[in-house]
Amino acid sequence: MKIPSKPTILALAIILATPLAANPARDAIINALKQQAGVSSFSAEEGKALFLATHSGGKPETPSCTTCHGTNLKAGGKTRAGKPIEPMAVSVNPQRYTDPAKVEKWFRRNCNSVLGRECTPLEKGNILAYLSSL
Ligand code: HEC
Repeated sequence: MKIPSKPTILALAIILATPLAANPARDAIINALKQQAGVSSFSAEEGKALFLATHSGGKPETPSCTTCHGTNLKAGGKTRAGKPIEPMAVSVNPQRYTDPAKVEKWFRRNCNSVLGRECTPLEKGNILAYLSSL
């Protein structure tokens, strides 16, 4: 048997050490938000609190992110019209949060519906940290 070269072993070690859900496009989105927010890390705990909370500033029919996305984020949700929404947890839906335009569009729309304002870069980053941790 041929003994693998040092660079091969190193490459394998890096691949194995990378968490399954890691994705360069998602990392780039999160890093851009860190710069905008002026922080070096986000809080999944705060993201969770914001995502699961009931808010009063937005439309009365959408008081929470869970109104459409549900409380089990590894399962799918439903729009107000009953259209299915794919799960939000990155562990079961690895394509999530990899298209910057899609992420921006839906944060703008959904934060306005639920909070009656746009989410700040800090809030968006905390939410993405939470949804990536599930
Ligand atoms: C009125 C229903 C509704 C509410 C309320 C809602 N969403 Fe969504 N959300 C959607 C739909 C529909 C999509 C687009 C379809 C999809 O991505 O599966 C979406 C997509 C997203 C995306 C983009 C996902 C991606 O793959 O890039 C993010 C981020 C998101 N929502 C966050 C939130 C947050 C945060 C809240 C609460 C502030 C929230 N949503 C509340 C319906 C909703």
